[in-house]
Amino acid sequence: MSLADSLQYFTEENSADVVCARMQAAKNERLANVMESAVRHLHAFVKEVEPTIEEWEQAIGFLTDTGKMCDDKRQEWILLSDVLGVSMLVDTINTRRPSGATENTVLGPFHVEGVPEREMGDTVSEDGKGEEVYVSGKVTDIDGNPIEGAIIDTWQASHDGYYDNQQPDIQPEHNLRGIFRTRADGTYNYRAILPCSYGIPDDGPVGVILRGLSRGSMRPAHLHYIVSAPGYETVTTHYFVKGDPVLEDDAVFGVKESLIADFEQHDDSSLARKLGVSNPFRSVEANFRPCRRRAEVTLPPRALGQKKRFGGFICTAPAIKLSAYLNDAKHKQREKHGITRNRKRCGGLYAAQSGR
Ligand SMILES: [Fe+2]
Repeated sequence: MSLADSLQYFTEENSADVVCARMQAAKNERLANVMESAVRHLHAFVKEVEPTIEEWEQAIGFLTDTGKMCDDKRQEWILLSDVLGVSMLVDTINTRRPSGATENTVLGPFHVEGVPEREMGDTVSEDGKGEEVYVSGKVTDIDGNPIEGAIIDTWQASHDGYYDNQQPDIQPEHNLRGIFRTRADGTYNYRAILPCSYGIPDDGPVGVILRGLSRGSMRPAHLHYIVSAPGYETVTTHYFVKGDPVLEDDAVFGVKESLIADFEQHDDSSLARKLGVSNPFRSVEANFRPCRRRAEVTLPPRALGQKKRFGGFICTAPAIKLSAYLNDAKHKQREKHGITRNRKRCGGLYAAQSGR
C-alpha cells in the first residue's frame, strides 16, 4: 500500500469515512458503534441539506439556547427529543412486547412520589372539581389470567389542564393522584374526573421551532398509569379520551391506538347511586395486560444480543435479566413505600420540566 493510499485526507466524498477511521482504536465498542453511526447519519444529513454557513451558525445558536434553557426544573433537551418523536421511539424500542400486552407510552414530567394508597372505590379528587369518571378495569396476564395485588399508580391533569404540582397554591397536594391494588380477581375501580388536554412548555427554543413549523404544542386529554406486579414488566402508559380534538396531533407522539378509550357519558341517577358517583357522570374501562418479565418470554433474535452495526439499539440477554431484576425490585419498593420514583431520563419524556 502506498503512502497516498494509507492517508485519508478529508474530502466531501469521503468525509464520514475519514472521521470514522479515527475511532478504530476505541476500546469501548458500543461507544464506537454509536458514534460511527451518528457521524455517518450526520454527514449524510449535511450533504443532503447543504446548509449555508449562516444556517449552520443558526443551528449552533439554537442548540446553545436549548442548553441554556435547562436547569434543575426544566429540561429543554428532553423536550426537543419529545417533539421530534425520538423519546417515543426510544421508549417503543425498549418496550417491545408480545402481542396482546398493554403498550407503553411516555411517563411525562408530572409523576410524583409519596402518593397515598387509596381504598378501592375512592375518588382521587381532593377538591371535588370536574366531571366525575367511574374508572374500572382488570389487570391480567396476556392469556387473561387475573393478577392479584397489582399496584396501579394513577395521576392526571385537572378539568382545566393542570397537574397539582403545577398549581401548589390552587390544588391540594396529591389531588387527582392515587395508588390502588387489584383484588383477587384482578379487578379494581375508583373515581376520577374527566381530564383536559394541555400544552407542553412552548416558551423556549422548542416552542420557537414548533411555531416555525406551524406545529401544535398540545397533548390530548389522558389518564396516566404505572402498573406493576411481581414477575411482570412494569407498564407505564396512558388512557386517552376518545374524541379529543388533538388525538392525532399529540405534540410528543404519545398516542397509540390501543390506548384510546371511550369515556362514556351517562345520565342515570340510579346507576350513579349504585356506583357511588354524582349524576351525570362518565365511565371508562381501563384494562392492563402486562407481560411476563422479558427473561421469561421468547424474544425476537434482535433483542437477544444480535448486533447491528448501523442503526438500531443493541439489547443483550444480561441487560434483559438486569431489567427484569430492576422491575421486580421496583415493585417491592413500591409495595413497601406506596410509590417510588419511576422516572427515566431517556425513554420517554420531558421529565423535570417546570412548565406544562
Ligand atoms: Fe400528562
